[in-house]
Amino acid sequence: MAEKIPVILLQKGIATGDSYIKVCIQENAPVICENKDTGVKKRMPFKIMFEHNSRFWLQNKTWEYYIEINEHERILELVSESDSDQEFVIPEISSDESTSPDDIIKGFGQDYETIAAIAEPERILLITDGNDRLEKLIEKKPREEDEITEALVDTVQITMLHNHASLMNAMSLSNDEAKKQTQGLVESTRQFVKTSSQLLSANIFNDDLMKTLVSKSNGTIIQHMIRVYLNGLAFLSYYNKTVSSSSMINKLRASFSSRYRKFYESLLPNLEPDDISLERVFLGGMRAIPDGDFYNWATGFLMHDLGKAAAVEYHEGEDAYNRDIVIEHVKLGYDSIINKTNYPREVGLIAGYHHEYYGNPGGYGYYRTYLEQVKKNNPKSVQNYCIALELEPVIECEALAFFPAKVLEIIDVFDSVTDPSRKYRKAMTTKEALEMMLKEFIIKEQKIDLVLFDVFARFVSEMTLHQ
Ligand SMILES: [Fe+2]
Ligand SMILES: [Fe+2]
Repeated sequence: MAEKIPVILLQKGIATGDSYIKVCIQENAPVICENKDTGVKKRMPFKIMFEHNSRFWLQNKTWEYYIEINEHERILELVSESDSDQEFVIPEISSDESTSPDDIIKGFGQDYETIAAIAEPERILLITDGNDRLEKLIEKKPREEDEITEALVDTVQITMLHNHASLMNAMSLSNDEAKKQTQGLVESTRQFVKTSSQLLSANIFNDDLMKTLVSKSNGTIIQHMIRVYLNGLAFLSYYNKTVSSSSMINKLRASFSSRYRKFYESLLPNLEPDDISLERVFLGGMRAIPDGDFYNWATGFLMHDLGKAAAVEYHEGEDAYNRDIVIEHVKLGYDSIINKTNYPREVGLIAGYHHEYYGNPGGYGYYRTYLEQVKKNNPKSVQNYCIALELEPVIECEALAFFPAKVLEIIDVFDSVTDPSRKYRKAMTTKEALEMMLKEFIIKEQKIDLVLFDVFARFVSEMTLHQ
């Protein structure tokens, strides 16, 4: 039995004065929320609860809020050290409705706590079972598309959630111990990625699939990650088909000087404008993605937001958006995948580089930090290519970006703005989203890649036509 940690009612701490609230926000103190009816306990950051309702400890009849005694004493100490001259004003209550921790724990769905408590061998079994079910359905003749869709959605969800829970647990272990513990999970996940990639030829990546997905998963982050994974898989496959036909590349070449050159001039300032061509945009030219890379990148898409926390708002412009906290998700995703698992390096890089935006200040991530360091150590280092498909030129800093991360930026933005579960802004239609992305992410600022965006826009319109 775990030892009981002594706690105190949060309200008692707050009764000592408003500075107590101020320090709780500054320190993002963890609040223990206990459901009086069911006895369920959840831990939530004070700041998040406060941002949703500035009197949450008074306004919910079902929940009782506590703080650990140690934490309470630490806060009191900080209160006595804090500058009492600086007045702290609690904002007015923004709504009459009470906010419960359940309202806030939407990111990973209601079952997440149960999933987080499952032991590692059981996790692997759940993913393997889902994968076996899917494989059997794929072999079945005639194929039952509805059943395949169900099984696919279920298994993506299970795989995603278990990877999240397992890697977050692994953060407290040494790297070697963690790698051993997550090895089975890595293998079963990679097997599942291979199985789901086979489904691409069956052309079931359609609107019905997305609808099933939204109706079946109850967490907003999980919905986003599943949609991005499936759209990402479908896009990579479309990309491979398109670049294999010479007509697409010929069209891009024919319109390069009129549509594209200007966009790339400032990204590649060391080159004469006339020297900028498709071969400078893609190191080694535009070509199909080899199988091995395809699976590694697909795994990266599946894991890209693994560092997200359930109670944080990740939609820019939404009420509880906090850029500093949001930036953490790429760091945690990268660190946990690279250090705590044996996933291929590409998977970690995709998690760490998927918001770079060609170094634009609106983006963030590890690649810009890495690039800065390399340039500092070697001032002669120049990037005369925009996107590299292979890992080596990325590590050598020959290019400004890594192909799968650049693809993911586009899919990610598109998904965020068309997400039907957005709270504070209406979801955009496909057309509105593409127009907005062209205006804001390409014309105004060079964040996403123009050639990849054009291929993506074609992919989206062809997908929509088939619905
Ligand atoms: Fe992200
Ligand atoms: Fe994302």
